[in-house]
Amino acid sequence: MTYTLDQFCTDSHAAMTNNPGSAGRDQIRRHLEKLLVNESFIADHLASQDSGKALLYHDRDFDFYVMAHGTNAGDREGKPHDHGASWAVYGQAIGLTNMTVWNRTDDGSQSGHAELTECRTFPLNPGKAALFDTGIIHSTAHPKPARWVRVTGTDLDTIERYSYDLDRQVMNRMVPA
Ligand SMILES: [Fe+2]
Repeated sequence: MTYTLDQFCTDSHAAMTNNPGSAGRDQIRRHLEKLLVNESFIADHLASQDSGKALLYHDRDFDFYVMAHGTNAGDREGKPHDHGASWAVYGQAIGLTNMTVWNRTDDGSQSGHAELTECRTFPLNPGKAALFDTGIIHSTAHPKPARWVRVTGTDLDTIERYSYDLDRQVMNRMVPA
């Protein structure tokens, strides 16, 4: 039976009810992989998504958001960033996201200063989802147009979080686009 967006939202709510920590977030990741093979969902909510983002669901009890994202750019490379006190699950629908996870190597004692080293890279292909738990710094790159789903623990536009400039070794507060 086809796994629908409604089922995903219901199951994600249940996952948070059972365990609002890392285990529940990983459950959401696994549920998202089931949703990503639903061709009707992809056609209805992702294929039509242009560059930018659209809200698919907001959970009022746990405040997590399910968003459709897209880029039509041919070669898009994002800066390393954190998700503040939140977490994020990225699930690929169309195209590819090249993920890089970064380690912060300075002690955080110097205001605005941050040093990062590359920890690991992996491609996120259609049908796959990855959890970036609270505190993880990552960056995304899209070598070609792509569509993906992002589930976040809250509205990232409302919380304090940072992007990181590797060359200048500075961190900048992110503000809503
Ligand atoms: Fe992110």
